[in-house]
Amino acid sequence: MEETLLQSKELYKSYNTGKTIVPVINGINLTLYKSDFTVIMGSSGSGKSTLLYLLSGLEVPSSGEIWLEDKPVHTLDEKMMTLIRRKYIGFVFQDFNLVPNLTFLENILIPAYLVKNDRQQIKDRALDLMQKMKIKDLKDRLPSEVSGGQQQRCSMARAIINNPDLVMADEPTGNLNSSSSEAVLDILSELNNKGQSIVMVTHEVKSACRANRIIFLRDGHIEDDLRFDKDLKFEEKEVQLLKWLAGKDW
Ligand SMILES: Nc1ncnc2c1ncn2[C@@H]1O[C@H](COP(=O)(O)OP(=O)(O)OP(=O)(O)O)[C@@H](O)[C@H]1O
Ligand SMILES: [Mg+2]
Repeated sequence: MEETLLQSKELYKSYNTGKTIVPVINGINLTLYKSDFTVIMGSSGSGKSTLLYLLSGLEVPSSGEIWLEDKPVHTLDEKMMTLIRRKYIGFVFQDFNLVPNLTFLENILIPAYLVKNDRQQIKDRALDLMQKMKIKDLKDRLPSEVSGGQQQRCSMARAIINNPDLVMADEPTGNLNSSSSEAVLDILSELNNKGQSIVMVTHEVKSACRANRIIFLRDGHIEDDLRFDKDLKFEEKEVQLLKWLAGKDW
Protein backbone atom coordinates (compact mmCIF):
# COMPACT_ATOMS: atom_id res chain seq x y z
CA MET A 1 0.00 0.00 0.00
CA GLU A 2 1.38 3.38 -0.97
CA GLU A 3 1.84 6.10 1.60
CA THR A 4 0.14 9.41 1.08
CA LEU A 5 2.45 12.40 0.78
CA LEU A 6 0.22 15.27 -0.23
CA GLN A 7 -3.51 15.53 -0.57
CA SER A 8 -5.91 18.19 -1.78
CA LYS A 9 -9.62 18.17 -1.01
CA GLU A 10 -12.18 20.21 -2.95
CA LEU A 11 -9.46 22.70 -3.87
CA TYR A 12 -10.54 25.95 -5.52
CA LYS A 13 -8.56 29.02 -6.54
CA SER A 14 -9.70 32.11 -8.35
CA TYR A 15 -7.92 35.38 -8.98
CA ASN A 16 -9.57 38.73 -8.63
CA THR A 17 -8.15 40.96 -11.35
CA GLY A 18 -10.08 44.00 -10.17
CA LYS A 19 -12.54 43.81 -13.04
CA THR A 20 -13.37 40.12 -13.05
CA ILE A 21 -12.94 36.99 -10.99
CA VAL A 22 -10.98 34.35 -12.87
CA PRO A 23 -11.59 30.77 -11.71
CA VAL A 24 -8.35 28.83 -12.18
CA ILE A 25 -8.53 25.70 -10.02
CA ASN A 26 -12.00 24.21 -9.92
CA GLY A 27 -12.44 21.54 -7.29
CA ILE A 28 -9.33 19.37 -7.33
CA ASN A 29 -9.24 16.22 -5.24
CA LEU A 30 -5.78 14.78 -5.62
CA THR A 31 -3.63 12.38 -3.64
CA LEU A 32 0.09 12.22 -4.31
CA TYR A 33 2.07 9.29 -2.97
CA LYS A 34 5.52 9.02 -1.45
CA SER A 35 8.31 8.03 -3.81
CA ASP A 36 6.17 8.60 -6.89
CA PHE A 37 7.39 10.57 -9.88
CA THR A 38 4.22 12.37 -10.90
CA VAL A 39 3.95 14.49 -14.04
CA ILE A 40 1.28 17.12 -14.61
CA MET A 41 0.32 17.84 -18.21
CA GLY A 42 -2.33 20.05 -19.79
CA SER A 43 -2.57 22.96 -22.15
CA SER A 44 -1.29 26.46 -21.43
CA GLY A 45 -3.54 28.18 -18.92
CA SER A 46 -5.06 24.94 -17.59
CA GLY A 47 -3.76 25.75 -14.09
CA LYS A 48 -0.62 23.59 -13.77
CA SER A 49 1.62 26.23 -12.19
CA THR A 50 -1.17 27.45 -9.93
CA LEU A 51 -1.76 23.91 -8.71
CA LEU A 52 1.93 23.51 -7.84
CA TYR A 53 1.93 26.84 -5.99
CA LEU A 54 -1.12 25.79 -3.99
CA LEU A 55 0.23 22.35 -3.14
CA SER A 56 3.49 23.85 -1.89
CA GLY A 57 1.78 26.60 0.09
CA LEU A 58 3.17 29.39 -2.09
CA GLU A 59 -0.40 30.46 -2.91
CA VAL A 60 -3.39 30.42 -0.62
CA PRO A 61 -6.45 28.55 -1.90
CA SER A 62 -9.82 30.29 -2.22
CA SER A 63 -11.33 27.23 -0.54
CA GLY A 64 -10.55 23.60 0.17
CA GLU A 65 -7.86 21.75 2.04
CA ILE A 66 -4.25 20.71 1.41
CA TRP A 67 -2.48 18.22 3.63
CA LEU A 68 1.27 17.57 3.54
CA GLU A 69 1.28 14.31 5.48
CA ASP A 70 -0.33 15.44 8.75
CA LYS A 71 0.29 19.16 8.22
CA PRO A 72 -2.70 21.29 7.14
CA VAL A 73 -0.99 23.55 4.59
CA HIS A 74 -4.22 25.51 4.03
CA THR A 75 -4.27 26.75 7.64
CA LEU A 76 -0.57 27.38 8.28
CA ASP A 77 0.68 30.95 8.33
CA GLU A 78 3.35 32.09 5.90
CA LYS A 79 6.16 31.89 8.44
CA MET A 80 5.40 28.29 9.36
CA MET A 81 4.95 27.30 5.73
CA THR A 82 8.29 28.89 4.80
CA LEU A 83 10.03 26.79 7.43
CA ILE A 84 8.37 23.60 6.21
CA ARG A 85 9.10 24.37 2.58
CA ARG A 86 12.73 25.14 3.27
CA LYS A 87 13.23 21.74 4.82
CA TYR A 88 10.96 19.41 2.87
CA ILE A 89 10.16 20.95 -0.50
CA GLY A 90 12.43 22.04 -3.34
CA PHE A 91 10.71 24.22 -5.92
CA VAL A 92 11.88 24.86 -9.48
CA PHE A 93 9.98 27.85 -10.82
CA GLN A 94 8.87 28.12 -14.42
CA ASP A 95 10.43 31.61 -14.53
CA PHE A 96 13.45 30.59 -12.35
CA ASN A 97 12.88 33.20 -9.63
CA LEU A 98 16.58 33.66 -8.85
CA VAL A 99 17.66 36.52 -6.62
CA PRO A 100 18.98 39.12 -9.12
CA ASN A 101 21.76 40.64 -7.02
CA LEU A 102 23.23 37.32 -5.88
CA THR A 103 25.67 35.26 -7.90
CA PHE A 104 24.77 31.81 -9.22
CA LEU A 105 26.67 30.14 -6.42
CA GLU A 106 25.12 32.37 -3.74
CA ASN A 107 21.63 31.68 -5.08
CA ILE A 108 22.23 27.98 -4.56
CA LEU A 109 23.90 28.37 -1.14
CA ILE A 110 21.28 30.56 0.53
CA PRO A 111 18.58 27.92 1.20
CA ALA A 112 21.25 25.58 2.58
CA TYR A 113 22.79 28.21 4.88
CA LEU A 114 19.31 28.72 6.32
CA VAL A 115 18.99 25.13 7.51
CA LYS A 116 22.54 23.83 8.02
CA ASN A 117 25.75 25.02 9.65
CA ASP A 118 28.61 23.30 7.92
CA ARG A 119 29.44 25.94 5.30
CA GLN A 120 32.30 24.07 3.67
CA GLN A 121 30.19 20.95 3.19
CA ILE A 122 27.37 23.04 1.73
CA LYS A 123 29.71 24.79 -0.68
CA ASP A 124 31.20 21.48 -1.84
CA ARG A 125 27.73 20.10 -2.51
CA ALA A 126 26.68 23.26 -4.36
CA LEU A 127 29.76 23.14 -6.58
CA ASP A 128 29.20 19.44 -7.21
CA LEU A 129 25.61 20.11 -8.31
CA MET A 130 26.80 22.96 -10.52
CA GLN A 131 29.36 20.65 -12.09
CA LYS A 132 26.66 18.05 -12.82
CA MET A 133 24.49 20.74 -14.44
CA LYS A 134 27.42 22.20 -16.36
CA ILE A 135 27.12 25.66 -14.84
CA LYS A 136 30.15 25.57 -12.54
CA ASP A 137 32.10 28.04 -14.69
CA LEU A 138 29.30 30.54 -14.16
CA LYS A 139 29.41 30.45 -10.37
CA ASP A 140 30.35 34.14 -10.00
CA ARG A 141 27.91 35.49 -12.58
CA LEU A 142 24.66 37.24 -11.80
CA PRO A 143 21.42 35.76 -13.20
CA SER A 144 21.16 38.69 -15.64
CA GLU A 145 24.53 37.69 -17.15
CA VAL A 146 23.57 34.19 -18.29
CA SER A 147 21.05 32.47 -20.56
CA GLY A 148 17.57 31.28 -19.62
CA GLY A 149 18.63 27.65 -19.79
CA GLN A 150 21.56 28.32 -17.46
CA GLN A 151 19.26 30.09 -14.99
CA GLN A 152 16.91 27.14 -15.15
CA ARG A 153 19.70 24.76 -14.15
CA CYS A 154 20.76 27.10 -11.34
CA SER A 155 17.17 27.11 -10.12
CA MET A 156 17.24 23.31 -10.19
CA ALA A 157 20.45 23.14 -8.13
CA ARG A 158 18.96 25.56 -5.59
CA ALA A 159 15.83 23.41 -5.32
CA ILE A 160 17.71 20.23 -4.47
CA ILE A 161 20.61 21.54 -2.36
CA ASN A 162 18.81 20.58 0.87
CA ASN A 163 17.94 17.10 -0.37
CA PRO A 164 14.20 17.74 0.01
CA ASP A 165 11.72 14.87 0.40
CA LEU A 166 9.65 16.45 -2.35
CA VAL A 167 10.81 18.26 -5.47
CA MET A 168 8.27 20.30 -7.41
CA ALA A 169 9.54 21.34 -10.80
CA ASP A 170 7.57 23.57 -13.15
CA GLU A 171 8.73 22.88 -16.72
CA PRO A 172 12.34 22.41 -15.57
CA THR A 173 13.50 21.60 -19.10
CA GLY A 174 11.41 24.18 -20.93
CA ASN A 175 14.42 26.29 -21.88
CA LEU A 176 17.01 23.57 -22.35
CA ASN A 177 18.52 21.79 -25.33
CA SER A 178 18.29 18.03 -25.35
CA SER A 179 21.59 17.24 -23.63
CA SER A 180 20.93 19.72 -20.79
CA SER A 181 17.37 18.40 -20.53
CA GLU A 182 18.70 14.88 -20.13
CA ALA A 183 21.11 16.06 -17.41
CA VAL A 184 18.30 17.69 -15.43
CA LEU A 185 15.93 14.75 -15.89
CA ASP A 186 18.68 12.32 -14.89
CA ILE A 187 19.09 14.21 -11.63
CA LEU A 188 15.34 14.04 -10.95
CA SER A 189 15.26 10.32 -11.78
CA GLU A 190 18.27 9.74 -9.54
CA LEU A 191 16.57 11.51 -6.62
CA ASN A 192 13.42 9.51 -7.27
CA ASN A 193 15.38 6.24 -7.28
CA LYS A 194 16.65 7.19 -3.84
CA GLY A 195 13.04 7.50 -2.66
CA GLN A 196 12.42 11.22 -3.00
CA SER A 197 9.08 12.27 -4.47
CA ILE A 198 8.92 14.32 -7.64
CA VAL A 199 6.09 16.38 -9.10
CA MET A 200 6.97 17.85 -12.48
CA VAL A 201 5.02 19.92 -14.96
CA THR A 202 5.99 19.28 -18.56
CA HIS A 203 4.45 19.28 -22.01
CA GLU A 204 7.17 17.04 -23.45
CA VAL A 205 6.26 13.38 -23.91
CA LYS A 206 9.85 12.18 -23.56
CA SER A 207 10.30 14.03 -20.27
CA ALA A 208 6.94 12.80 -19.02
CA CYS A 209 8.04 9.19 -19.54
CA ARG A 210 10.39 9.59 -16.57
CA ALA A 211 7.28 9.48 -14.40
CA ASN A 212 5.25 6.56 -13.15
CA ARG A 213 2.04 8.60 -13.06
CA ILE A 214 0.63 11.33 -15.31
CA ILE A 215 -2.18 13.70 -14.40
CA PHE A 216 -3.95 15.64 -17.10
CA LEU A 217 -5.42 19.03 -16.20
CA ARG A 218 -8.07 20.84 -18.17
CA ASP A 219 -9.62 24.15 -17.13
CA GLY A 220 -8.50 23.71 -13.55
CA HIS A 221 -9.77 20.19 -12.99
CA ILE A 222 -8.27 16.74 -13.32
CA GLU A 223 -9.51 15.22 -16.53
CA ASP A 224 -7.48 12.03 -16.47
CA ASP A 225 -4.96 10.11 -14.40
CA LEU A 226 -2.59 7.51 -15.90
CA ARG A 227 -0.39 5.05 -14.06
CA PHE A 228 2.29 3.15 -15.93
CA ASP A 229 2.76 -0.53 -15.15
CA LYS A 230 5.94 -1.01 -13.16
CA ASP A 231 7.84 -3.12 -15.67
CA LEU A 232 7.24 -1.01 -18.78
CA LYS A 233 10.29 -0.01 -20.77
CA PHE A 234 10.78 3.63 -21.70
CA GLU A 235 9.68 3.04 -25.31
CA GLU A 236 6.54 1.23 -24.18
CA LYS A 237 5.65 4.10 -21.87
CA GLU A 238 6.11 6.51 -24.75
CA VAL A 239 3.70 4.56 -26.97
CA GLN A 240 1.13 4.34 -24.20
CA LEU A 241 1.40 8.02 -23.33
CA LEU A 242 1.13 9.13 -26.95
CA LYS A 243 -2.03 7.07 -27.33
CA TRP A 244 -3.46 8.48 -24.10
CA LEU A 245 -2.72 12.04 -25.18
CA ALA A 246 -4.02 11.50 -28.70
CA GLY A 247 -7.52 11.20 -27.26
CA LYS A 248 -7.19 14.65 -25.72
CA ASP A 249 -7.54 17.77 -27.72
CA TRP A 250 -4.73 20.06 -26.44
N1 LIG B 1 -2.06 36.27 -10.50
C1 LIG B 1 -2.98 35.99 -11.43
N2 LIG B 1 -4.01 36.82 -11.67
C2 LIG B 1 -4.96 36.54 -12.58
N3 LIG B 1 -4.98 35.43 -13.33
C3 LIG B 1 -3.97 34.56 -13.14
C4 LIG B 1 -2.93 34.78 -12.19
N4 LIG B 1 -2.08 33.72 -12.24
C5 LIG B 1 -2.58 32.89 -13.16
N5 LIG B 1 -3.72 33.39 -13.72
C6 LIG B 1 -4.53 32.75 -14.76
O1 LIG B 1 -4.80 31.43 -14.33
C7 LIG B 1 -4.80 30.52 -15.43
C8 LIG B 1 -3.87 29.38 -15.12
O2 LIG B 1 -2.53 29.86 -15.05
P1 LIG B 1 -1.30 28.88 -14.80
O3 LIG B 1 -0.10 29.73 -14.81
O4 LIG B 1 -1.57 28.07 -13.61
O5 LIG B 1 -1.39 27.96 -16.10
P2 LIG B 1 -0.38 26.87 -16.66
O6 LIG B 1 -1.18 25.64 -16.92
O7 LIG B 1 0.79 26.77 -15.78
O8 LIG B 1 0.03 27.50 -18.07
P3 LIG B 1 1.46 27.43 -18.86
O9 LIG B 1 1.51 26.08 -19.51
O10 LIG B 1 1.33 28.53 -19.88
O11 LIG B 1 2.56 27.67 -17.88
C9 LIG B 1 -4.42 31.34 -16.64
O12 LIG B 1 -5.58 31.64 -17.36
C10 LIG B 1 -3.80 32.59 -16.06
O13 LIG B 1 -3.99 33.68 -16.89
MG1 LIG C 1 2.77 27.24 -15.96
